[in-house]
Formats: sequence, structure tokens, C-alpha cells
Amino acid sequence: MSRKILVTSALPYANGPLHLGHIIEAVQTDIWVRFQRMQGHDCLYVCAEDAHGTPIMIKAQSEGITPEELIARVAGEHRASYQGFLIGHDHFHSTHAAENRYFTDLMFSRLKEAGHITTRNVRQPFDEKAGIFLPDRYVRGTCPRCKAVDQYGDSCEVCGAIYTPADLIDPKSTVSGTKPLWRESEHIFFLLSRFEQMLREWVRSGPLQEPVYAKLDEWFAAGLQDWDISRDAPYFGFEIPGYPNKYFYVWFDAPIGYLGCLKALCECRGLDMHAYLTPDSKIELHHFIGKDISYFHTLFWPAVLHGSSIRRPTAIHVHGFLTIDGQKMSKSRGTFIIAKRYLELLPAEPLRYYFAAKLGPDVDDIDLSLEDFVARVNSDIVGKLVNIASRCAGFVARSGGKLSDTLPEPALYAEFSASGPRIAALYEQLDYAQAMREIMLLADRANKFIDTRKPWTLAKDPAKTIETLGVATQGINFFRVLMVYLAPVLPDMACHAAQFLGAPLSRFNEVDAPLLGSPLATYRPLWQRLDPNVVNKLIASTNTAAETTTATAGETHVTLDDFSKLDLRVANVKAAVAVDGSDKLLKLTLDLGGEIRTVFSGIRKSYTPESVVGRNVVMIANLAPRKMRFGVSEGMVLCASGADGRVYLLSADDGVAGGMKIS
Ligand code: 2FM
Ligand code: ZN
Repeated sequence: MSRKILVTSALPYANGPLHLGHIIEAVQTDIWVRFQRMQGHDCLYVCAEDAHGTPIMIKAQSEGITPEELIARVAGEHRASYQGFLIGHDHFHSTHAAENRYFTDLMFSRLKEAGHITTRNVRQPFDEKAGIFLPDRYVRGTCPRCKAVDQYGDSCEVCGAIYTPADLIDPKSTVSGTKPLWRESEHIFFLLSRFEQMLREWVRSGPLQEPVYAKLDEWFAAGLQDWDISRDAPYFGFEIPGYPNKYFYVWFDAPIGYLGCLKALCECRGLDMHAYLTPDSKIELHHFIGKDISYFHTLFWPAVLHGSSIRRPTAIHVHGFLTIDGQKMSKSRGTFIIAKRYLELLPAEPLRYYFAAKLGPDVDDIDLSLEDFVARVNSDIVGKLVNIASRCAGFVARSGGKLSDTLPEPALYAEFSASGPRIAALYEQLDYAQAMREIMLLADRANKFIDTRKPWTLAKDPAKTIETLGVATQGINFFRVLMVYLAPVLPDMACHAAQFLGAPLSRFNEVDAPLLGSPLATYRPLWQRLDPNVVNKLIASTNTAAETTTATAGETHVTLDDFSKLDLRVANVKAAVAVDGSDKLLKLTLDLGGEIRTVFSGIRKSYTPESVVGRNVVMIANLAPRKMRFGVSEGMVLCASGADGRVYLLSADDGVAGGMKIS
């Protein structure tokens, strides 16, 4: 039976480029959407810019443009990146749009009418110099628990403590560098606590994965807190009707943006929007998100929807974070891979395939290992899949270019086409990794069939022309089945393969019957082998990409003020060891004139441990300690990169370890 489905992925903030973390989610969603359509379901996919909030306001100010100009520019970049990765949104909108204002106002007024809204006074840090209230993340200071310096106002990256900016020692605004004042003002709250019963009942309908239920149980046990949904002017967002100078908090109208986008799409296509939104709607609503924003989507969002008499989501699909070579993406390590930079170097589909091969139905983190990426894609797509078509196409061409009218082993073909429902079930459950494994097992069987039947030997015998064509036809049909199964992941390749086959690859059930007696187009190579040298540039080139992007944004210029914050000291390397499990890091024991520090430094490719012991180096002594997989790094040793791409330690000629701050 045909289903109607509305799908969303999280709305990217309109203040920076998309990186591969955004792309993995978009790819996960896009595969699911394409798969649903290949089952004959009516599936719409919407997304939008998340355009409101303080960071966007501040970024626009710093560039001397309006937030609207910033959003328009970033939206253009985002669209180009999504298109580059073949993400097929039906509509891509913005939260700063009339349709979103319509729903935001409507839902707020319904919540208010139903008594789910209240006001309370809130004390908040205020930057007097900049004239704005500060979000917690815009206040930094010393952690009240472990005394690590320069920590965010909501949590400490070193010891993990959670607190409020009021708890920070020596707090500073990151906007102006001044000490924030505390100001009280009236805020508007959504009474989330009223919805506990409703939410408990909703989760019983099965919208979540196991670990997400467990998280919800924790949140229920801790007690649901009412939610502050307003921010004082100046703020970039929608002003709250009836509350002058108060604006909806960005997280209130962001998920509502899903509905705003649906409205824009429905108007454009003449669809019945209400059918999607009535509380008893039979249309499915699926949200794809990262685990960091589960609270918003599994508690606030269904409660806000229900409280305003709109249907709740059918399912929230949560994925883990993307890591690069086992580590969190990081600008300083050059592993913050921007979508645009990836697309300058490589085509989208190898990464789509690799992500599919790694994405399971759970919320575990997903690792992009560059070495494994090259090996996996070359082995599976070139070595197994494309190989089938390229080995068989020539024999069909030589026999007149038409497939035979029968298959030599119809029972074997039937096994391939009978795998469709099982592979479909895996896609449906978001177990793409298992689907890819099973498809590649079929590819192995197809290659084995060709190896056993040896069409190249048959072709030498003029009496076996028909048999040769039969074997090649069967091989081409295996390729067709596999391409259908892979079409949600590799839509471009499927399109080229369909041209070659002279038959569409748009429904799973097309492969119920083999393709017989029809002509094939000339075979052209469908895929290029990944070159590890190009793939490795992803990391090296990312730094440049990040620099260029921020340089145009006018942010990479270090002011004298910034520079004078650095406490640079001469340190003597007392000991150095290579870090197990990392090919980049040395663990250095540094003497700063009596004080001993441990620093992990990424210089292993340029220096052996022995060669650095005894050297005087320059270190930043007041860098916030950083917790790494291998221990805490208590500073940073300065290096410069040479024209040969290697890094060189800076040494202090006759400096005495410990030294004074260099200014
Ligand atoms: O975390 C983020 O990047 C948010 N911009 C996601 C918003 S998703 C939805 F709620 F709009
Ligand atoms: Zn701490």
C-alpha cells in the first residue's frame, strides 16, 4: 500500500559553511527518501536555513552587513553544497520567512490560549558595551570546579562540569571582552512540565531508537523544566505578538521551520497542507537529526506541536557524530572538512557510498577513515560492481549490441531479484551498512558466475556465440539488479547506468523480471577509481578552506589585543614519547623552569622523540587544558609550516626555560 511521508533533516545555521557532519545527515535522509520513492511511496523532503539568533546577528554585524544579507549569501552556499552531494530536497526554505512567521505566531497563540505559556523574571548576563544579552556560550571564564581557564558559560570542556555563566570565575563577554553585568527581565516560558503524560504516551507509539528512549527516561526522572522561549531585543528573529521588544528564541521557531517549509512547498505545488498537520493525520512525519539536538526534538517539539493542536512526529531518527580518522572534527587538526572543499576535490558519490556503508540504525558515532574510504570504495564499487558491467558489455556489443532473449541460469537471477524485499527492509530500518554488505555479497556472486562461465573463453569458439551472449546478458542483468538496489545511494551512477541499459532504474520491483532482447547503449566507464593522494588532500586542504572562508568574513586578522592574551614561554623538552594509537602525536614533558607540563604535539611526522629531547621550544602556557583521547594536553608547542609542507618547531635561541611572557 502506498504511504504518504514527510521527511526533514535538521536545519543548518545560516552563519557558516556546511561540513561533512551536515552532509552525513543529509545523505542519510536523502537515501531514505529516494528509497521510499523507489517503493512507490509519496515522499516529500524539506529543509531550510536556520536563520535566527544571536550568533547570526553578531556575525552579520562583524561583517558590516544585515542578517538578511548574511542569510542570503550563506543559503546560496548551502544550496550549492547540498546539490553537489545530490541531496534532493523538494523544497529548501528559510526560518526567516513569512510561512514560518505564520506558524510561529499561530502556534504561540494556540499555546497561550490553552494556558501553556507563562512569564517569569530571568537574570541574564548583559554586555553593556555591545548592548546585548549574552547567550551562555558567549560568556567565558574560569571553571568553578577545576579552575581551567577560558571555559564556556554553560559547561567546562576540561572536567565536564555543567553550570551557568553566573558560576564562572572572572567571566568575560566574548563579544566585547568586558565583564558582563547581570540584568533581570521578563521572559516567556512554555510549560513543558504539563506535557509529561502526553510525552510518555507518545513514546509508546514507537517513534524513537532504544538509546534515545533511555535518554528520555533520564530526562523524565530528572523532571521536565519549563522552557524559556523569549529573548530580549536586540535579537534577530520574530518579535512576539503582544510583547514589544521580545523575540522568539531561535530554538522555538527553528523546528516550526519544518512546517513553514511544508507550507511554502504546498502552496507551490497546490498540495493540501492540512492533511499533513491535522492531529489525526495518516501522513507520516519523520525527522532526521544528530544526537546533540534530541532534547529539542523529542521533548519540546512534540509538546509544542501537541499543545497547538498539530499532529506529532511519527519518528525521530537520531544519528551519531561524524569523526575523521577516529577523532572529533577539528579546525586545528585540519579535519574540519567543509562540503565545498570536498566537492572541489572529489565527486559526491564515493562519499555517499562510504557513509551508507557505515550508517547503521543506532546512534553510535560514524568514522570516516580516509584510508578505509579509498580501500572500501575502490574495492566495492570498482572492483565488484562496475567490474560486472565492464566485463560483460563488450560481449553484448560484439554480438550486435542486443541482450539475449533468455538467461542461462534463470534460477540464479531469481535469487538476486528475491533479495529485494530483504534489502528494502534494511533501508527502511536505516540499516544501510547491512544493506551495502548484502548488496556486495550479491556482487561477489555475480562476479563468481562470470568467472565460472568464462565468457572470454566461450567467445573464442564461434559455435558458442549464443552461449557467450547469454552469459553476458545474465551478468548485465545482475548489474542491473544491483544498480537498482544501490540507486538510493548512487543516484547519478544509476542514471548513467539506466542510459546504458536502456531501461529505468527507478523502482525496486522493476527487477522482478530480467531485461531481455533489448539493445544496450555503448558502455562508458561509470566510475573513477579514488586516488589516495587526492583523498589525503582533504585534510591538508581543509585548513586553507577554513582560512579562506573566515578570511573573507574578516575574522582571521589577529589583533594586538588577541596576541597579547597569549602567554608564550620558553620550555625545555625533558622527555618525549610516541603516542600509541596515533601516528601524529608525540607526548612531550616540558619544563617551564620548575613547572612541569604535559603537552601532546602533532609533530611525529617531522621529529623522532629522541631528536626533540633537550631542545628549547616555545609554548603557549595559558592555553586551556584540552582533554584528548590519550590524556590532557596542558598547552601547545609552537611550530611553523615550511614550504615543503612539513612542520618545524620554533626554538628559543638562548632562552631560559620558564622565561617571561614574550610581548
Ligand atoms: O543544531 C543545529 O544546527 C540547528 N540549527 C538545528 C535546527 S533543527 C530544527 F529544529 F530546526
Ligand atoms: Zn572544569
